[in-house]
Amino acid sequence: MTLRLDGLELRRADGVRLLAPTSFSLEKGDRMGLVGESGSGKSLLVQAVFGVLPPGTVQGGGSVTAFGVRMDLEGAARDRIRGDRLAWVPQDPLQALNPFLRVQDHLNLLPGVHRKEARAATLTRLAPLLERLRLPRDRAFFRKYPGELSGGQRQRLCLAMALSCDPELLILDEPTTALDPTVQAEFRSLMLELQAERGLGYLWITHDLGVVASVTDRLLVLYGGEAMEAGPTARIIAAPRHPYTERLLSAARREPALESGFLPAPGQRPEGCPFRPRCPKMVDGCAAWQPWQGPEQDGLRCESALADAGPA
Ligand SMILES: Nc1ncnc2c1ncn2[C@@H]1O[C@H](COP(=O)(O)OP(=O)(O)OP(=O)(O)O)[C@@H](O)[C@H]1O
Ligand code: SF4
Ligand SMILES: [Mg+2]
Repeated sequence: MTLRLDGLELRRADGVRLLAPTSFSLEKGDRMGLVGESGSGKSLLVQAVFGVLPPGTVQGGGSVTAFGVRMDLEGAARDRIRGDRLAWVPQDPLQALNPFLRVQDHLNLLPGVHRKEARAATLTRLAPLLERLRLPRDRAFFRKYPGELSGGQRQRLCLAMALSCDPELLILDEPTTALDPTVQAEFRSLMLELQAERGLGYLWITHDLGVVASVTDRLLVLYGGEAMEAGPTARIIAAPRHPYTERLLSAARREPALESGFLPAPGQRPEGCPFRPRCPKMVDGCAAWQPWQGPEQDGLRCESALADAGPA
């Protein structure tokens, strides 16, 4: 097992649940997507994997293991894996960049720690990567600070940093939102190449089903901090079984909305299935729905969809 979440549960300090117990694993060469609308808990899940939960958020249970090391516990073993074998592109580039550090020192940050590599050697080694990310490779650019970069350049710098130690596994949290369409396409093909050539495994987080369709083989759909549906990307996109996934797909196809409404804030979510107030297929059993310990790699949590499928 390379990366494994086992019943990971997250709560606010006051006890309100932010992520119901969630389990899945990511192996080398895997191309997995995590989708769900804003506030569904995608970024919190990743922050838990890297042991950087925001203040006021606590792990309510479960565990996160990468390459045999508990990532949710402090320790030197965890620090050796973070940024080296398992890397992360955070959703907010400013979260990853130090305003007082030049571009060249950002690029050397992880190789300096994990490989004891000198800065000049890192800049030479990373030149082809910077070129593919359409970042300048001249001294003037290397000496800039994050505040002197465009939003797209900051995001590409974060991508270069995450790839700087040739990770085996990569978690990408909305990696292409600030990029123009040409650079987005270039970045997608870079990821597909790294996966095919080196067996890079990635978890690609987005609210955009169009993006995951082109870069992932399997999906986990989150809503309101709960796993709703998991399975092969092609099957889910061709024939979604969960009413929330259907809604996401119709939004991606820009079809007229089946329903309106918003994901309620944590603490204001209904008992049972969190999609209940918006769901056109709600049945009596949906209110009595208990948090679910899955799905692992393939599965579904929905009263009406399971009833349609008939008795197991
Ligand atoms: N520090 C925090 N304290 C309390 N609640 C938080 C904290 N950070 C996030 N939340 C709440 O947890 C929920 C999940 O947030 P998260 O950022 O993981 O969502 P997301 O799925 O990544 O959304 P987006 O698509 O907008 O990035 C949200 O309701 C958010 O308001
Ligand atoms: S039918 Fe029930 S369980 Fe399924 S998504 Fe709708 S409210 Fe949730
Ligand atoms: Mg997020």
